[in-house]
Amino acid sequence: PGLQRLVVVSNRLPVALKKVDDAWAVKQGAGGLVTAMAPVLKNRGGAWIGWAGASSDPDMDVDGLLSDFCSDAGYDLATVPLTKQEVDDYYFGFSNEIIWPLFHDLQTRCRFHPRYWRAYLDVNFKFAEVVARKSTPDDYIWVQDYHLMHQAFFLKSMGVKRNTGFFLHIPFPPPDIFMKLPWRWKVIQALTEYDLVGFQTVQDRRNFMGCLQRLMPEAKAEGRGAVVTVTVGNRRFRLGAFPISIDYNQFSGLAKRPEVAQQAFDVKEALRHRKIILGVDRLDYTKGIPERIQSFHTLLRRYPDMVGKVNFIQIAVPSREEVDEYKELRQEIEQLVGRVNGEFSFPGWVPVHYHYRSLPHEELVAYYSAADIGLVTPLRDGMNLVAKEYCACNNSGSGVLVLSEFAGAAAQLQKHAYLVNPYDMEGIAKALHRALHWGRDERKASMLKLREQVRKNNIFWWVDSFLQAGISKKLDDFPEI
Ligand code: UDP
Ligand code: G6P
Repeated sequence: PGLQRLVVVSNRLPVALKKVDDAWAVKQGAGGLVTAMAPVLKNRGGAWIGWAGASSDPDMDVDGLLSDFCSDAGYDLATVPLTKQEVDDYYFGFSNEIIWPLFHDLQTRCRFHPRYWRAYLDVNFKFAEVVARKSTPDDYIWVQDYHLMHQAFFLKSMGVKRNTGFFLHIPFPPPDIFMKLPWRWKVIQALTEYDLVGFQTVQDRRNFMGCLQRLMPEAKAEGRGAVVTVTVGNRRFRLGAFPISIDYNQFSGLAKRPEVAQQAFDVKEALRHRKIILGVDRLDYTKGIPERIQSFHTLLRRYPDMVGKVNFIQIAVPSREEVDEYKELRQEIEQLVGRVNGEFSFPGWVPVHYHYRSLPHEELVAYYSAADIGLVTPLRDGMNLVAKEYCACNNSGSGVLVLSEFAGAAAQLQKHAYLVNPYDMEGIAKALHRALHWGRDERKASMLKLREQVRKNNIFWWVDSFLQAGISKKLDDFPEI
């Protein structure tokens, strides 16, 4: 819908600069936002504004380093330079030590330093200046995620008129949790400055509306279905639920390529064709990795028939390594892996295979295709694209998705995934044992339904539904999700 140029604004760009042995290298940015947005821009063109992933350094020539990427990308890239202090206080601090834990219902991990809030506002202002400079009144400004909730607010304060949309990739918490944020009123107010605010699920949208009505009791919502119109004071804006997704054909197609199928076969052969349970996550405390390892431990203890018959592969992608909580989590995970392997390994069988690194795309797809069970057990997650990628890559239809009921993806996939409570380690062990004994027909029937859901509601469907709500004047055609 619409012919407006798309200007995507996010903290993270699809590429990140990293210092490797004293020289700058260009790496692929990790995480769901990049996976989802990269095909969107490739397909539609436009511009992507964001931070290059490293604090600015006098001997860093950002444009030079990114020039190869920019000439192949098919869209423009503009970077917002951040100082070390800004990275510490706005990115590690406000974004990842306040909003990230709070919005994932883990408020005891929050550090509400006022310094972080001030840095967040300053950096949002800095981003808005770049957006104002790099866009025209005809562009559609599409802001992504919790780092940049104040873009529309600052653009307006500068007198810059744009059609703006905001999409939150993480959950929006219920009022009892959100109200703990010292700057709750200002954050809610800033979000009402967008023309459209999108969430992953209808529940997130309800939580937002609940918070808005607590803080601004005059706020009213009209309409039914996935998108509603809200009036508060003299402002009118839209709220919607748009579950994000993946480029299904890209994942499924890659899994069919002979060299990737060969890699998948090599993985199975190296594990002597034992059953494979797979976990893939950024190493993050919201992902429930320790509980998952303990569930696998319980599986081996409770069901002796499983010993020597199954492998658990956990891929943990390094993330936010400067935050203490992430360092401690890494240690905890490594100890747990050591404990299970110490208790159960014998010559020819090591139960847990743990990789702490990011994987090339083909290798990741090969793991997805090789796995008998995709084990996705976040304690809380906005959506969880790994769950969808696992289904898209499972061309044989023989895999089972075991999925946390607290992942946004459960709202769409609950009927055909095996749903578990990520805190219930005995429950997960039981689910794994059952799933490993499912018959082929049963597995195939469920996986086909899951694949159909992801294929239809893919990333291009997501963009179209968001932009339709963001650009169209009338809202007639928004069925409930
Ligand atoms: N991923 C990655 N590098 C890797 C392995 C995986 O970037 O080495 C991707 C994975 O394919 C998925 C994303 O990271 O698209 C994780 O997205 P998800 O929504 O599951 O969680 P998030 O990391 O965004 O919280
Ligand atoms: C989640 C967030 C994204 C973020 C990604 C990776 O998906 O919703 O905004 O980019 O994690 O985290 P990072 O801090 O490395 O950008």
